[in-house]
Amino acid sequence: MVKRVLILSVLSASVLMGADGAKLFGAKCAECHGANGKEASIAGKAIAGDAAALTKLTGYKAGTFGGDQKATMQASLDGLSDDDLKALAAHVATLK
Ligand code: HEC
Repeated sequence: MVKRVLILSVLSASVLMGADGAKLFGAKCAECHGANGKEASIAGKAIAGDAAALTKLTGYKAGTFGGDQKATMQASLDGLSDDDLKALAAHVATLK
């Protein structure tokens, strides 16, 4: 329940901010993670439905999270704002 409220508030915040998570995901993430976040071949795991995506994305950006291939993720987050990351994480959480 708390998680659902959090996701909803992130979603409505991103709508207010104008960042479109689905659009961003299609443009910047789908080539590696698949349109539905289910492509597990690169990261070794699918990201669809990951409720911790925002923590991971901000961690990649800050250099505090990641595995062997974190440089790949850091590069793909280059130029994205915190609001973009929130919109993306909210979108990832809705993928199944
Ligand atoms: C060039 C390929 C590529 C692109 C583009 C890319 N990723 Fe990744 N992603 C990876 C790889 C490789 C990893 C594993 C990195 C590591 O070793 O930590 C990863 C890891 C992740 C993880 C963490 C998975 C976990 O649980 O450890 C998340 C969340 C994620 N990506 C989301 C995104 C989002 C959102 C975008 C679009 C902004 C994106 N990725 C764009 C290749 C990519």
